[in-house]
Amino acid sequence: HPPALEMKDPSTLSPSACRAKGGASGFKVAILGAAGGIGQPLALLMKMNPLVSVLHLYDVVNTPGVTADVSHMDTGAVVRGFLGQQQLENALTGMDLVIIPAGVPRKPGMTRDDLFKINAGIVRTLSEGIAKCCPHAIVNLISNPVNSTVPIAAEVFKKAGTYDPKRLLGVTTLDVVRANTFVAEVLGVDPREVNVPVVGGHAGVTILPLLSQVKPPCSFTPEEVNYLTDRIQNGGTEVVEAKAGAGSATLSMAFAAAKFADACLRGLRGDAGIVECSFVASQVTQLPFFATKVRLGRAGAEEIFPLGPLNEYERAGLEKAIKELALSIEKGVSFIRN
Ligand code: NAI
Repeated sequence: HPPALEMKDPSTLSPSACRAKGGASGFKVAILGAAGGIGQPLALLMKMNPLVSVLHLYDVVNTPGVTADVSHMDTGAVVRGFLGQQQLENALTGMDLVIIPAGVPRKPGMTRDDLFKINAGIVRTLSEGIAKCCPHAIVNLISNPVNSTVPIAAEVFKKAGTYDPKRLLGVTTLDVVRANTFVAEVLGVDPREVNVPVVGGHAGVTILPLLSQVKPPCSFTPEEVNYLTDRIQNGGTEVVEAKAGAGSATLSMAFAAAKFADACLRGLRGDAGIVECSFVASQVTQLPFFATKVRLGRAGAEEIFPLGPLNEYERAGLEKAIKELALSIEKGVSFIRN
C-alpha cells in the first residue's frame, strides 16, 4: 500500500508535545467521501470535536488538499488522509466510528432513488471494507437513497458475518434539524428549544414529522400542519432547486451529521440518555428498517422507541410512508442478494 498522507502523527511530535496532548484518549473516526460537498465541512466539524482523537479522511479524489488544510486547525484530533481504493483498508483499520457521505448528490428534477444506480455500488464497496477492517465500528450512513443504502450495508455485513443491527445507523438528522427550524419559525421561538420527532425514512413521503409530539407541547392549525409537513418532506428539494444543478444540501447536512456523530460518540463513551432519530433495523412496524427515536449507547442503537400516539393525519402519513419504504428497502436488499 502507498503510505497514508499523514499530516500530524504523534510520533513526529517531541516527547513534551506528546505529553501535552494528554495521552491518546478519544475516538477514532473515519469519513468516507471526505473531499465532497458534505465531507469537507464535516471533516472541519469533526476536527473540532473534542471526543475525536484520530480523524481519517478517505476519498477517491482530493484528500491530500483537504487533509493538509484541516490538519492545520489547532484542535486535538490527529488527521490522516487516504486517497483511492488501495488505501481504503488503511483508512478503516482501527476505527470506532465510520461516517459515509460518499456518492453522487441530486440535481433538480431527480429523486433520491435516481441516485441508486451509482451510490448502491459505492456503498457496497465501502461496506465490504468496513466488514473486513473495522467490523465493530459504528456506521453512520448518509449516502442516498438512505432508505436503500442502509439495507444494502446490512446485507453486505450479513454476508461477511459481521452484521450487528445496533451498529448500522442511517442518518436522518437533517430531517429533524429542518423540522426543528421550520416549527420554531411558525411558533416564533428559538429552534434550539424545539424537538420534533421525525420517523419513517429519508425521502419524500417516507419523511414523517410527528407534529403532535413536538416538545415543548404545542398545537398547530390544520393549515400549519399541511405547510410544515410539506416543507419538512421537501426541504431537500428546496435546497436542490436553489442550488440549481450545483448539488444538494451540504452545509446543513454536515452540521446534522456532526450532531449525530457526536451523539454516537457520547453514547460510545457511556453517557446516559442520548436519544436521536435514526433509520435502523426495527420492529416498530412490519418493515425490517424504520426511523424512530433510538437511545445511543456503548453498543450503538441500544433501544428503539415506539412511535407513540399518532393522530389521524399522522396515521394516514404512516401508511403512505410504509408503502414507499417497503419498495426502497426491497430494492436495496435484492441489489446484494441477486
Ligand atoms: P459530492 O459529490 O459533493 O461528494 C461526494 C464525494 O464522494 C466526492 O468527493 C466523491 O469523490 C466521493 N466518492 C465517490 N465515490 C466514492 C467512493 N467509491 N469512495 C469514496 N468516496 C467516493 O456529494 P455530497 O453533496 O457531499 O453528497 C454526498 C451524498 O450524501 C449524496 O449521496 C447525497 O445524496 C447524500 N445526502 C444525504 C443526506 C441525508 O440526509 N442523509 C442529505 C444530503 C445529501
